[in-house]
Amino acid sequence: MAKVKIFDTTLRDGEQSPGFTMSIAEKLQMAMQLDDLGVDIIEAGFPVASDDDFSSVRQISKKVRRPTIAALARANPKDVERAGESIQSANKPRIHTFIATSNIHLEKKLEIGREECLDRITQAVQLARTFVDDVEFSAEDATRTDIEFLCEAVRTALNAGANTINIPDTVGYTLPEEFSSLITTLFKEVHGLDEAVVSVHCHDDMGLAVANSLAAIDSGARQVECTINGIGERAGNASLEEIVMALKVRKDLTEHHTDINTESIYKTSQLLSHITKIHPQPNKAIVGKNAFAHEAGIHQHGMLKDKMTYEIMTPELVGAPETRLVLGKHSGRHGLNNRYQELGYELTQEKLDRAYKFFTMLADQKKEVLDEDLLVILRHGAIQEPGKFYKLLDLNVTCGNELSTAEVKISYNSIVKEGKAKGHGPISLTFSAIDKAVGKELIIKEFEIVAATPGRDAVGVVNIKALINENTFAGTAASTDIVNAAARAYLDALNKSEQSVS
Ligand code: KIV
Ligand code: ZN
Repeated sequence: MAKVKIFDTTLRDGEQSPGFTMSIAEKLQMAMQLDDLGVDIIEAGFPVASDDDFSSVRQISKKVRRPTIAALARANPKDVERAGESIQSANKPRIHTFIATSNIHLEKKLEIGREECLDRITQAVQLARTFVDDVEFSAEDATRTDIEFLCEAVRTALNAGANTINIPDTVGYTLPEEFSSLITTLFKEVHGLDEAVVSVHCHDDMGLAVANSLAAIDSGARQVECTINGIGERAGNASLEEIVMALKVRKDLTEHHTDINTESIYKTSQLLSHITKIHPQPNKAIVGKNAFAHEAGIHQHGMLKDKMTYEIMTPELVGAPETRLVLGKHSGRHGLNNRYQELGYELTQEKLDRAYKFFTMLADQKKEVLDEDLLVILRHGAIQEPGKFYKLLDLNVTCGNELSTAEVKISYNSIVKEGKAKGHGPISLTFSAIDKAVGKELIIKEFEIVAATPGRDAVGVVNIKALINENTFAGTAASTDIVNAAARAYLDALNKSEQSVS
């Protein structure tokens, strides 16, 4: 099984993208985490870019001893010297020098011809070799470079002493099959390339960075350049976690492996998000919030029987928190019952049916039904007996700056009664409308509304104590609509008073 080296460029290509700037201390913290993750090479920065970049590469070189520390340099003496200086104290230093090779970059950006480009490659690589033994050369925009000239550039870099040849898909332009055959052609056309390490560096402009990297590995690339969470210029770089896990999960199909401690992937991703305050999108493979969450009833049912039904890797394998069975409007009775069991409740079929009815109503109003919601359902929806005498059939309330109105429809022993009230305050009017419907007036002694669950779509619990025929009765009900909860709490107190005389 051939090893594929992981060259992490989170601190260079990742950090140079908008919003991802890190301080020196943060870069050092991140580099130590990348060491723990087991990456082979850390590209620590672009030392000529700024004094801060230089200092961070220098500090990382001093403190992070196991992996190779690479410093980026354009193919000119000033850049290469600055890079060489920055990694002087590294245990395993590397200079990574690059120049564009495509016609458009040569003509429009660098304004030089091919001969000049080849000369610069020779000089930069030779100068880099005077600082370090480990020199990587990149042909920027390789995938849009004329193939003969690309072969020439690679030959030149090898002859000058480069030991790693990187083929970047700088603008995320290539397709997997095309990239795979480009790598095959290079091996065929460039004598001695098989003695160097061929690397690839893919950008994600068409969402193909990982697919292209895997295709190149199949054709003989033995180093991939990638970033945590796939951060990087524009649409980002190939995501480290996706490449590593694809090789691991599909080891039946690929004979390549990496030395990444996959259990540290999630922690590393979280550290990067914490430092940059930018989180990967929820559906991001491997490290997104939903990567191991299941909501659909059919999926939850399968997962409860055997996790492999819907999971191709365990969250533990990447150090992520355990699988979340998210309860929402697509969940079924199985998922609900399982969560109640985890919370320590064994529900009878009847109670589960009642809880499920309340749960589906709640799930229509809330994105995600939380454990706190389930406990409220138990107290107010499933365990509490439904009122025997008074039931709320309909409630319509309008309120705002003008006078408010409340209209209720109630059944009392199957007889429908209606009441209306106009005035101020939606809850007070609802109580008045109920009074009119039932022909009684309750005196409220105590009234409270408690948010039983977090968030703006919290379930509110209404508790009241009402004086009815000189006795006090407590009433309680819960809903995401507190006016509705208040009406039902009021009827709950009324039901209790009827129960006491029956
Ligand atoms: O995308 C690119 O071409 C680069 C090079 C410097 C390797 O980042
Ligand atoms: Zn790049």
